Amino acid sequence: MNYKIFSFDILQSTQTFAHELIADGNATDKTIVVADAQSAGRGRYRRTWVSEPGNLYVSFIYKASKKRDPRLSYCVAIAVAEALGHFGIPAQIKWPNDVLVYDKKISGSLIEYSKNFVIIGIGINIKHAPTGLDYETAKTDDFTPGIERDELLDVLTDRLDFWRMRLSDNDFASVRIRWMELAAAIGTEIKYQGKMATLIEINADGALVLRRDGKYILVVGDEISI
Ligand code: BTN
Repeated sequence: MNYKIFSFDILQSTQTFAHELIADGNATDKTIVVADAQSAGRGRYRRTWVSEPGNLYVSFIYKASKKRDPRLSYCVAIAVAEALGHFGIPAQIKWPNDVLVYDKKISGSLIEYSKNFVIIGIGINIKHAPTGLDYETAKTDDFTPGIERDELLDVLTDRLDFWRMRLSDNDFASVRIRWMELAAAIGTEIKYQGKMATLIEINADGALVLRRDGKYILVVGDEISI
């Protein structure tokens, strides 16, 4: 795998630590930061990511061009869903990159850029599914008890390498097809900017295609509720 690994009992946030490595000039391509727990785990849109011991909290650091690539989030979601599938868990993707099992969120990811690196932060619930949130949650132990964190991390890393490679080989077509196979909401009604629309597909540029009132809407890097 050729990764440099930083492993901790507890960190504020693997994502924040990854930013610090980059800021201090200590980051290299293919670095993993993993922690058993986080005291200030970060979710998307400045939300908190509840980070009790027993789950996977990891940030992957890769060299990247300064340009954001919205297609990367599809690779991340596929990698998580396939890693869970490897352990017999029927995971589905909720656009853009949440992963659900039977409509309950089991994983989230956060993609950030710093200097010439991208940081892909992923949380997967293994032993602890947070409660009291405005969505339902699940953990791998609900479906396949006893998955080891590091075993899951190995498979996840392998799937992430595989799908990132498809992008670097200019093969977004495979990513797109796989994402649509795994996406929970293709063909269904979803809410976009307060109104319902049908989720059609992702197009060759990575934009989400919706249809409302006979018109097509393209969404890039936005969040919609499904
Ligand atoms: C989301 O809101 O769905 C994204 C959650 C991302 C959580 C992961 S856990 C590892 C990494 N470190 C963080 O602080 N956040 C990400």
